[in-house]
Amino acid sequence: MPKISKKFLTIWAPVLLMFVLIVALSLIGLYYSLKVSDGIGLNTKKVSVAAGENIFYKLGCVRCHNIKVLGIKGGHVGPDLSGAYSDVEKVYRENVNNFLKYPSGTMYFVLMFNKLSKEDRKTITEELKKAQEIKNKTEK
Ligand code: HEC
Repeated sequence: MPKISKKFLTIWAPVLLMFVLIVALSLIGLYYSLKVSDGIGLNTKKVSVAAGENIFYKLGCVRCHNIKVLGIKGGHVGPDLSGAYSDVEKVYRENVNNFLKYPSGTMYFVLMFNKLSKEDRKTITEELKKAQEIKNKTEK
C-alpha cells in the first residue's frame, strides 16, 4: 500500500467520516425541528373540522396541552392549562398575554417560528382567564 494512502486511511478518513456524520446529524435535527414546528405550526390547514373555531385546536396547542376545565383534551407534553392564567403570573411574573409575546422555556421554541398575532394572544388570554375562573370555582 502506498504511504499516502495509509496516512489518509488512518488519519483523514476517520476525521472526514466524523465530519460527514456531524453534518448529517445536524441536518436530520434541523429537518425534524422544522417538521415539528410546522406540525404545531399554526397551520390552519391541519385543523380538524370537529374542533371548530376553538383557538387551542386552531393553533395546535392541544398537541401538547390539556385544558380540562374547558373540556379540551390534548397531549401531555406540556402542563394542563386550566390554571395557567394564575400559574404564569406566579412563575414568570407576567400575564399570559406577555408570556406568549415574549415566551420562555419550551414555549420559546414552540413560538420561535410561529409568532402569535395580537388577536390570537388576546383570545388565548381570555380563554385561559375563563378556564381559571371555572377552576377556582370548582376547587372551592
Ligand atoms: C410542542 C409542545 C407544545 C405546544 C405545541 C404548545 N406548548 Fe405550551 N408549553 C409546552 C411545555 C413543555 C410547557 C412547559 C413550560 C416549560 O417547560 O418551559 C408549556 C407551557 C405553556 C404555558 C405556561 C403554563 C404554566 O402553567 O406555566 C402556557 C400559557 C402555554 N404553554 C400556552 C400554549 C399555547 C397558547 C399554545 C398554542 C399556541 C401552546 N402552549 C403550544 C409545550 C407546548
